[in-house]
Amino acid sequence: MQLPDDAAGTSTPRDTPMHDDRSGHYFATSPTAASVPASVRLELPEGTFRLVTDRGVFSADRIDPGTRILLRDGPDPAPEGTLVDLGCGYGPIAVTLAMRSPNARVVAVDVNERALALCATNAASLGLGNVSVATPAEISDDLLVDELWSNPPIRIGKPALHQLLDEWLARLAPHGRAILVVQRHLGADSLQAWLVENGRPTQRLASRKGYRLLEVRPS
Ligand SMILES: C[S@@+](CC[C@H](N)C(=O)[O-])C[C@H]1O[C@@H](n2cnc3c(N)ncnc32)[C@H](O)[C@@H]1O
Repeated sequence: MQLPDDAAGTSTPRDTPMHDDRSGHYFATSPTAASVPASVRLELPEGTFRLVTDRGVFSADRIDPGTRILLRDGPDPAPEGTLVDLGCGYGPIAVTLAMRSPNARVVAVDVNERALALCATNAASLGLGNVSVATPAEISDDLLVDELWSNPPIRIGKPALHQLLDEWLARLAPHGRAILVVQRHLGADSLQAWLVENGRPTQRLASRKGYRLLEVRPS
C-alpha cells in the first residue's frame, strides 16, 4: 500500500497490514483478532531480550524500525522520576527505559488492553518491578511527568494526535522533556513545526533511515 506522504500533517489515517490485523486497528481498545501469541527479539546494546506479542497489537511481528532507532540513537533516559511510555504497545520502549533507569518509575500507557497485558507480562518476565501499565482513563489528572517517551500513534489522524500530544505534553514537569520518534514520510517535520508554533521548543536529535528523533520541551 502506498503510504500517505504526510499523515501527521495533512492526510487521513491509514494502516498497513504490518501494523494492523484484518479485523481492527492496532489502537482498538479490545482487538477483535483471535489471539495468536508470538515473540520478537529486542536487540539492545545491553543484550537481546524476548518479548511476547500477539495479533491486534502494533508491529507484532518485529520491533518497529522507528522504535529500534529511538532505543538505539535516543538519549539516556532520566535516572529517576516518572517516565511515561505513551502508546506502549507490548512494551519495547517501556521495558528498555525500566532497564536503563532502574530507579525511575515507568508508566506504560495504551488504549489497547491486549497490548497493556503483554507489556505487563514482558516487564514481569524481565524482572522489572518499576513498570506499571495503565489505560489513559486510569491516569490521574495531576500526574507530573519527567520524561515522556513515545513512538506516537500517527495513524489516529492529525486532530486526534495533536489533542493527545497537547494533553500529555501539558503534564511535563518544567524541567521535563518528551522524546518522540516519527517517520519523515508520516509527517515528522510538520509535527515539529506544529509543536514549535504551539510554544513547545522542539529540536531534532537525530535523523536516520527516514525517522526523526524529536526532543520537545514544555512551553
Ligand atoms: C506506533 S504504536 C507504538 C507501540 C510501541 N510503543 C512500540 O514501539 O512498538 C502507538 C501505540 O499508541 C497506542 N494508542 C493509540 N491511541 C492512544 C491513546 N489515545 N492513548 C494512548 N495510547 C494510544 C496504540 O494502541 C499503539 O499501541
